[in-house]
Amino acid sequence: MAGEGPRSTPLPESAPRNEDHGERPAPLLSPRPLKPPADRLYGRSKGHKLRPRQQVLLDVTLPRMAFREADAAEPSRAFPGASELWLEVGFGGGEHAIAQARAHPEAALIACEVFENGICSLLSALVPEGREAEVPLPPNLRLWTADARLLLRALPDRCLDRLFLLFPDPWPKMRHARRRFVHPAMLPLLARLMKHGAEWRVATDDPTYQAWVRDVMGAQTLFDDAEPASVRPDGWPPTRYEAKALRARRQPLYWSFRRRRGP
Ligand SMILES: C[S@@+](CC[C@H](N)C(=O)[O-])C[C@H]1O[C@@H](n2cnc3c(N)ncnc32)[C@H](O)[C@@H]1O
Repeated sequence: MAGEGPRSTPLPESAPRNEDHGERPAPLLSPRPLKPPADRLYGRSKGHKLRPRQQVLLDVTLPRMAFREADAAEPSRAFPGASELWLEVGFGGGEHAIAQARAHPEAALIACEVFENGICSLLSALVPEGREAEVPLPPNLRLWTADARLLLRALPDRCLDRLFLLFPDPWPKMRHARRRFVHPAMLPLLARLMKHGAEWRVATDDPTYQAWVRDVMGAQTLFDDAEPASVRPDGWPPTRYEAKALRARRQPLYWSFRRRRGP
């Protein structure tokens, strides 16, 4: 899922082509029943061979920043004094996670990513070469380097104040829709974890995924449906994929969904 893989795949087979871009608009949720989300991870966790410095970051620094599975049932143990808990799924190179952690020292952020080179990018932005073992690390930022869904399932009810899903892999073929993170069957899990009024930020530049988000979120009742912004709102630090989309003249959309009161 990391890197370029899914973005280079053709668009869905079943819908008519969009005349402007030679792309196909998103399929609607109906008429075919949607398969449940895929349980395995389809993206890449390894890319090009790691350089020695990257290996040191993974061996020496990552253990100092890892969010431990043993803390999942009571995540506040990992962040004494934090007033909020935030979580980012798929942090890529970590630009957004680092910027949020710096701007909000009062909030604790668990940032999830499976792609080794991305994890190394985040670590190398924090750690000068040679100081991997002892440089002070942001106390409010911890990394989860397995499938984010495993952590989500282990977290307690109503623990999250904010959730970020920025430029998720779009998996544009309709037959791969079950690999998308935004999926009707994922919503009850996310709703269980989020406090009432908690914010779920979603951004994507992929037209298929944009229409998909509209369809999925328009058909549910756990979150307030929201109109997306077409300019990145204040307080949303930029990401590498957003920059890439803008360079390619793709139009990102930015949603802020709020968890409704209720079950
Ligand atoms: C298209 S990239 C976007 C990265 C970043 N958010 C950005 O905007 O630059 C999506 C990232 O999500 C990661 N990812 C996908 N599924 C994941 C999962 N289940 N758990 C953790 N990371 C995941 C991929 O490895 C990939 O790096």
